[in-house]
Amino acid sequence: MIVNTELEQKGNLFPSKIIGFEKDVDKLYFTTDNDVILQLTVLRDSLLRFRYTTVGNFDNDFSYAITKYASIGYNRLKIDENEDYFVVTTSKLRCDISKESLRVSIYDVKDNVLINQDEIGFHWEESYEFGGNIVKMSKVSNDGESYYGLGDKPNHLNLKGKRYTNWVTDSYAYGKDTDPIYKAIPFYTGLHHGKAYGIFFDNSFRSSFDFAQERRNVTSFWAQGGEMNYYFFYGPKMTDVVESYTDLTGKPHHLPPMWALGFHQCKWSYYPESKVKEITSTFRKLKIPCDAIYLDIDYMEGFRCFTWNKDYFPDPKRMVSELKEQGFKTVAIIDPGIKIDKDYSVFKEGLEKDYFCKRADGAYMKGKVWPGECHFPDFTNAEVREWWSGLFKELIEEIGIKGVWNDMNEPAVMEVPNKTFPDDVRHDYDGNPCSHRKAHNIYGMQMARATYQGLKKYSYPKRPFVITRAAYSGTQRYTSTWTGDNIANWEHLWIANIQAQRMSMSGFGFAGSDIGGFAEQPQGELFTRWIQLGIFHPFFRVHSSGDHGDQEPWAFDEDVTDIVRKFIEIRYQLLPYLYTAFWNYVDHGTPLLKSLVLYDQDDVNTHYRTDEFVFGEQILACPVLEPNAKGRRMYIPKGRWYNFWDDEVVKGGKEMWIDADIDSMPIFIKEGAIIPKFPIQQYVGEKEIKEVTLDVYYKKGKEESELFSDANDGYDYTKGRYSLRNFTLTGRKNELIINQYKEGKFITPYETFKIQIHGLPFDISEIQLDNETISLNHLKSNGTSSFVVDKNFSELHIKGNQSKS
Ligand code: GLC
Repeated sequence: MIVNTELEQKGNLFPSKIIGFEKDVDKLYFTTDNDVILQLTVLRDSLLRFRYTTVGNFDNDFSYAITKYASIGYNRLKIDENEDYFVVTTSKLRCDISKESLRVSIYDVKDNVLINQDEIGFHWEESYEFGGNIVKMSKVSNDGESYYGLGDKPNHLNLKGKRYTNWVTDSYAYGKDTDPIYKAIPFYTGLHHGKAYGIFFDNSFRSSFDFAQERRNVTSFWAQGGEMNYYFFYGPKMTDVVESYTDLTGKPHHLPPMWALGFHQCKWSYYPESKVKEITSTFRKLKIPCDAIYLDIDYMEGFRCFTWNKDYFPDPKRMVSELKEQGFKTVAIIDPGIKIDKDYSVFKEGLEKDYFCKRADGAYMKGKVWPGECHFPDFTNAEVREWWSGLFKELIEEIGIKGVWNDMNEPAVMEVPNKTFPDDVRHDYDGNPCSHRKAHNIYGMQMARATYQGLKKYSYPKRPFVITRAAYSGTQRYTSTWTGDNIANWEHLWIANIQAQRMSMSGFGFAGSDIGGFAEQPQGELFTRWIQLGIFHPFFRVHSSGDHGDQEPWAFDEDVTDIVRKFIEIRYQLLPYLYTAFWNYVDHGTPLLKSLVLYDQDDVNTHYRTDEFVFGEQILACPVLEPNAKGRRMYIPKGRWYNFWDDEVVKGGKEMWIDADIDSMPIFIKEGAIIPKFPIQQYVGEKEIKEVTLDVYYKKGKEESELFSDANDGYDYTKGRYSLRNFTLTGRKNELIINQYKEGKFITPYETFKIQIHGLPFDISEIQLDNETISLNHLKSNGTSSFVVDKNFSELHIKGNQSKS
């Protein structure tokens, strides 16, 4: 037996040598002399699951993270044995398991390159206090290896050299070094020698990850209870790893309604009704597009969920419908704490039905939140979730609320040192009763799930919109999220950028920050720069605590209002582009934001970049993160890119200074891209869109682009009533060809495309649309060439005869 004396002295235990092997279809069992069993499941050729027990048998196999829709199935599985190893081979991976130590090494089967290797591998410590084990895994970390992921950690994108904990925590005014904060997403991607792999440690207890911090060549992870249970994904492309993780833990169940991708205005709190209306009317008066207005806790009667303060909101149904007339969707907050009040129906019902969480010895869990002392539903009980979902009937069906915002669901408890439930609180855990130690990290997720179920039911035939603060892996199936109570300062603008990118590479794309900062108050300049970043965040909402003044686009000076309007308008123009990216996310888990390393992992210059990212597939954005800046240096990834503002083409693969005064920010379009754009609307659905603009960026060579459309809401698209247009652009010296291939049964309301060509290197002599020559009269002679074509063309052929000088 191989032992590590130092660790052994600290109470660690290790597997001894393998004495038994069994195979049950896709599951392989390796048993050691001291009753450790490794269960290795081959889920896909590039996806393996490792599960260890130290007591000779496994717990019930149950996880909130894994979706039943995950794709599984492999092409090849071969098991060999030699003197030292069991060798498991799939069409993508070879996995060697040491007979002596149970340690695992995983290789790319094609070139025999080692991808990931156990250092000590699985080991554990017995937990005297709680029973069971503290389960641990250590892996070799190579010099030059990088790590990414882990949800909402507010620090550098590359996790190397840091240690993090996953324990969902209410973190008012957190900072760069605060850990943990609101989310627990125990998934990371490692990148070494150009090959990416992922590890998802599916254990909901408090867990920790050490990325070569304690020991330079070791990366380890451990949890305070439960099983060592992790999934290993192989890329070698990072995007494949992220997509594969997202497939396993679930893509969003459906697209959001398109309005949810518009701009949202929020504050703690807008009340009474006249204030809400003043805000929405000002948006319309100043012509600043906005789709959603939020009601924070003050709309309730004494902070009792599912009630209304009738002094502030005498007739919520009327108000919501009047807001709807203006094109606003009303989103209302719902927290988990239910006020202890015998005259409050939700409390009475919860008590009667025995739906509230209890302490170990049977007393109800009691904790202070906004309404004072509360009990908390046990959302880990399916019956409780069903009850909770039913509570939304009036809010959604009767009153017409369009979205629900779940907050404080870590769960947050005030005035207690640990900010949450005590460890001994009991949970049903869907028939696997346990303490809060195990249920804590998934509590918020299950609340959001129950809320989602309610909204789905009562919003039908429209699609629901939910937002949550707390999350565990898999929460992206039900809801969007924001990054919690940040601060109005420049460092937090940096953090917001990191967090949205990180969430995207952790499978949770529908995320954004409180734009402008929640605590304290931004200057107009910071607010403007934050809006500029926010237009590229899937969830786009201004929110503030309201303690420090107003934070609407007009709360600063007029210049700010004008610039903010201009950027929000760009967001609205880009809605079909974002919607298409979202469809790719929902359909195959493609990350909505791609950090540069995700975009081009082969370029080592990208491995430590933090600021630049690709929005969707073809738009490169980089926020200005400092005051008084007239521009900034940024890294442009390899390839040729058009400056969004003036069409100047830059060749990437290097750092460059990019001008960006306060009314601008660095935005680039990948050459060859075809970017679909809507006309500016004040809200989604304001106009019937008869024409979509296609901004075509000439490239010598080929490039693919897409446009997805459906009814912008409802479920018809899941039955084939969508329209997916694939465009192939082929550029040569004297010609540009766009081929369109369509699928789907949806008839789009738009009839035509306005083609706007950027960077054409020749003068147009002829345009052929499906082999018919079209008149050139309406072509502009200078600058961008622009003309209108029928949406159903198959081939657009633009010819020129001489090069522009
Ligand atoms: C929490 C939320 C914040 C909200 C406030 C009042 O601090 O994070 O967004 O406005 O509670 O509900």
